[in-house]
Amino acid sequence: MNRRSLMKLVSRVIGWTCALVVAVPGISFITAPLRRRSSSGGIKQRVVKLDNLRVGEPTQVAITGSRQDAWVHYDEEVVGRAWIVRETDDSVAPEETRVRAFSSVCPHLGCVVQFNSERGFNCPCHKAFFQPDGQPVSEAELGHKNPTPRSLDDLECQVVEDAESGEWWVEVKYEKFEYGLTTKVPRA
Ligand code: FES
Repeated sequence: MNRRSLMKLVSRVIGWTCALVVAVPGISFITAPLRRRSSSGGIKQRVVKLDNLRVGEPTQVAITGSRQDAWVHYDEEVVGRAWIVRETDDSVAPEETRVRAFSSVCPHLGCVVQFNSERGFNCPCHKAFFQPDGQPVSEAELGHKNPTPRSLDDLECQVVEDAESGEWWVEVKYEKFEYGLTTKVPRA
């Protein structure tokens, strides 16, 4: 190998090294969100005091938490909503009070489910209707097709006592599920 060839080789090696030094961290930064593992599994949160619930009247609550967009981290903000339904009154001890929680995300295509005393749970987007227990209202009862593929997504919930104040709260495990499916599949 003559001197000229050697210089060419050395300059190529230096060029490749420089390219790698720039490219590796760049590629790593760009693909970081793709490699980041999902932190699904739900958010457990106290959402409403038991005393603030009326039997049989669904109450909507906001779920707050931090959120990670592709490259941006957002601190506390509303990440979802749920409907809480108290099923037993004050004649039952707080720790035995029955409550249910439903996600407010419509299982059809993800709009927000509303509630009013006349129409029950309903989705304004494509007219899905649900009974107070979250089951879809039948086609015969509605007079048209109910587009929802499944019942409202119920969420784990329980009544818990605050150790300091002694107040009773409803605690919910909020999760998101895939919509458009006949079964509940947690979203990644
Ligand atoms: S998104 Fe609710 S009915 Fe379509």
